[in-house]
Amino acid sequence: MVRRIFKWTGIIILSLVFLITVTVSLRQNLTYDAPYPEITASHDSSIIARGREIVIGPAHCGSCHSLYDTDSLVSLGQDPIMTGGVTFKLPFATLYSRNITPDPETGIGKRTDKEIARLLRYGVNPDGTAVLDFMPFHDVSDEDMTAIISYLRSLKPVRNKIPDHEWNIMGNVLKAFLVKPVGPSAEVPKTVKRDTSAEYGKYLALSVANCNGCHTERDMTGGFIGEPFAGGSPMTETGKEPLIPPNLTMDSSSRIFGWKQEDFIARVRVGRVIKHSHMPWNSYKLMADNDLKAIYNYLKTLKPVKTGTLLPGKKR
Ligand code: HEC
Ligand code: HEC
Repeated sequence: MVRRIFKWTGIIILSLVFLITVTVSLRQNLTYDAPYPEITASHDSSIIARGREIVIGPAHCGSCHSLYDTDSLVSLGQDPIMTGGVTFKLPFATLYSRNITPDPETGIGKRTDKEIARLLRYGVNPDGTAVLDFMPFHDVSDEDMTAIISYLRSLKPVRNKIPDHEWNIMGNVLKAFLVKPVGPSAEVPKTVKRDTSAEYGKYLALSVANCNGCHTERDMTGGFIGEPFAGGSPMTETGKEPLIPPNLTMDSSSRIFGWKQEDFIARVRVGRVIKHSHMPWNSYKLMADNDLKAIYNYLKTLKPVKTGTLLPGKKR
């Protein structure tokens, strides 16, 4: 009798494991549909220059797509080398950023403008699979998206083959059930008026520079759970002191409490101070004064939220 129960329990467990394994493996390459944005790259030098400004500045593409010292190249007036290969070692996978130079074999040379725009806006790869949610550019305006892609097209093609992502079992399960395309949060604007208004600052901070992605607390799946800009989730790296992106609202407990507009701009111009900070300071420090003014004006409009103590980089 007891033996029989064991036998049946064994059979049931084995069948369940088998079913789960089959389901997970069947769901590894799910495909999705999304519209192709009406975006066509331009050869106009002013549009390319605008794209460069966005890519090396607020959108900080080089901080993930370049292994080279973007800072010194840019200070020499050169372009960052966007050959990818930056490794993200996560508990569920080892991921590699891609080569986004126009090389046809190892880069984005064979992708059409609309495929690249769809990938960035709707999180859907040309083959229909979901793009991992590293790039929060879903709400970038048509005009800025055109500028970004025009700039990428103008880069020197560099051959650099990037390895495929490596997923472990947990990663395969995540991929089967949690990885889904992320798209725009509202109707995407055709253009956004570039001035020093809080409204433009909001667009820069949320849709281009992703300040909120770090400075607002998030749960394990990346969903926002904290008050906007009241401080982010701790950022940890083995062997290094954890950093907490501080509160940027105007409450007296905020890191930037009492900072005037010029103090804020001066701080950003200094660039990285804490060496292992994840914040792409060296891209942001290239932003135009007016863009930084706009971001500051936007931060001023946020609801002030009281948070912990003010130790540098440690507490919200
Ligand atoms: C936070 C890191 C990060 C930032 C910032 C970032 N990327 Fe990416 N990018 C990635 C990762 C990781 C992938 C691979 C995603 C995947 O395989 O699903 C990727 C993939 C891509 C791809 C797809 C390439 C291909 O071969 O299909 C393009 C195009 C791209 N990024 C462009 C950009 C541009 C343009 C910017 C700036 C506007 C940017 N990325 C900023 C991490 C980043
Ligand atoms: C990838 C994560 C990340 C992003 C994106 C990010 N930050 Fe930060 N930020 C941090 C971390 C971590 C710290 C604390 C360590 C440090 O000071 O570098 C910080 C600190 C700061 C500070 C305090 C600096 C000081 O000297 O005390 C300010 C101001 C700031 N961020 C503003 C911004 C703004 C504005 C944006 C968007 C343009 C932004 N951050 C985007 C992670 C991020």
